[in-house]
Amino acid sequence: MKTPHYLPQVRAQYEELPYPARNPQDEKTRLARTWLEDLPMINHYCFAGRQSFRKRFRALVAGGGTGDATIFLAEQLRHTDAEIVHLDMSRASSDIALKRAQVRGLTNITWIQDSILALPELALQPFDYVNCSGVLHHMEDPDAGLRALLSVLKDSGALGIMVYGRYGRTGIYQMQALMRLINDGIADSPSRIRNAREVLGSLPPTNWFRRAGQHFEDLENDAGIYDLFLHAQDRPYTVGELYEWIHDRHGLHLHFTDVGRGRAAYMPELLLNAQQPAYLSAVSALPLRRQQEIAELLSGDLLTHSFYVTRSQSTEAAYADADCVPCFYHEPLDGAALATLIREHKNMPFVVNHSHTRIAVQVDPGKYSAYVLPLIDGKRSFREIFALLRAQPQFKVAPPADEYLFRDLQPFFQFLRSIDRVLLRHGSVDAIS
Ligand SMILES: C[S@@+](CC[C@H](N)C(=O)[O-])C[C@H]1O[C@@H](n2cnc3c(N)ncnc32)[C@H](O)[C@@H]1O
Repeated sequence: MKTPHYLPQVRAQYEELPYPARNPQDEKTRLARTWLEDLPMINHYCFAGRQSFRKRFRALVAGGGTGDATIFLAEQLRHTDAEIVHLDMSRASSDIALKRAQVRGLTNITWIQDSILALPELALQPFDYVNCSGVLHHMEDPDAGLRALLSVLKDSGALGIMVYGRYGRTGIYQMQALMRLINDGIADSPSRIRNAREVLGSLPPTNWFRRAGQHFEDLENDAGIYDLFLHAQDRPYTVGELYEWIHDRHGLHLHFTDVGRGRAAYMPELLLNAQQPAYLSAVSALPLRRQQEIAELLSGDLLTHSFYVTRSQSTEAAYADADCVPCFYHEPLDGAALATLIREHKNMPFVVNHSHTRIAVQVDPGKYSAYVLPLIDGKRSFREIFALLRAQPQFKVAPPADEYLFRDLQPFFQFLRSIDRVLLRHGSVDAIS
């Protein structure tokens, strides 16, 4: 018997309630960004900063839904010869994505209505990048989904994946169990959704979902309520389970970057509000995967896991490469402001309170951060920045060597890189703008 390519009840859900709910007319006023699909992020994490995106770059958005990742990639790649393929089994969801593309006048997207499991049979050219966000955990056999994605990925390519986090969604799974009991025997989705809203509006303060106090914009609309509380197929993962699945079973490499917080959300030493209890020194000696498992349990707030997957381990742009171009990313953060902050603390270690990530940590700016940070403009390489620094009158007598500067700047850069506020691109490729 031929393996069924999708779960009928999951397909029915996304035909009736395309998710996330999107209005194509909103494209006239804003571009919705997705964390993993920013080209500088993909380049930094997956291509050692050396991807030009100008040589027939191919991206697949698998389970693309109503189009967030597809539209964002297509918009960034608008003036290149790249092709973006949007694949989803739900016609209703893809129709919304298509309308969004039409409103924007995007012509670089190919549309396929099919299952991810059909990918090996579709005879598509292999891809440099495959996004699959919020999909594998809704499949009957997520590993079959992963294998199908890998079957169309170039050897040098990367996956960008999001799956649900087990501990962060503890309250949600209790709500799902509750709704299964309350909705037992009720088949029509309007009634099920109505019940879910009533339950939500009358939760006692002890309820785990209520206690978690997590904010979901999606709860405003039916598609959001259904996806969160009433889904027919939904399984979460811990960090440990992801390593067992993706690294141990498939020999692939994971690069976690939490939406908004980057790798910091997976670093125990950045989660303790600048406290550094003694046990952390033993934790820092553990393998990276154990540290990340500990971080997940410490914070308990990882609702999702977003990560890149690559076949090679060393795909991240190297900090100590003088030909790399550092650039500030993700929110207005500029070198001059950081330099002022460092000078206010007289170049001594101080606690950085980063409001966007709510991370507070003591960082040593070293001797040179206050001079180097204002020279970062997203165009100059470290080599050029260091040459400019050495040309300043106060450094002419004893000019610091590149290796010395890299060592001196390392702690401050490590912090900025851990929250994805500084990304690296190799000087041999231009920025895509
Ligand atoms: C939760 S939505 C996520 C949509 C989109 N990736 C996003 O992040 O906004 C899940 C999507 O995956 C699609 N999907 C689920 N299983 C699929 C399969 N086996 N093949 C293709 N699409 C699938 C659904 O139709 C739905 O549009």
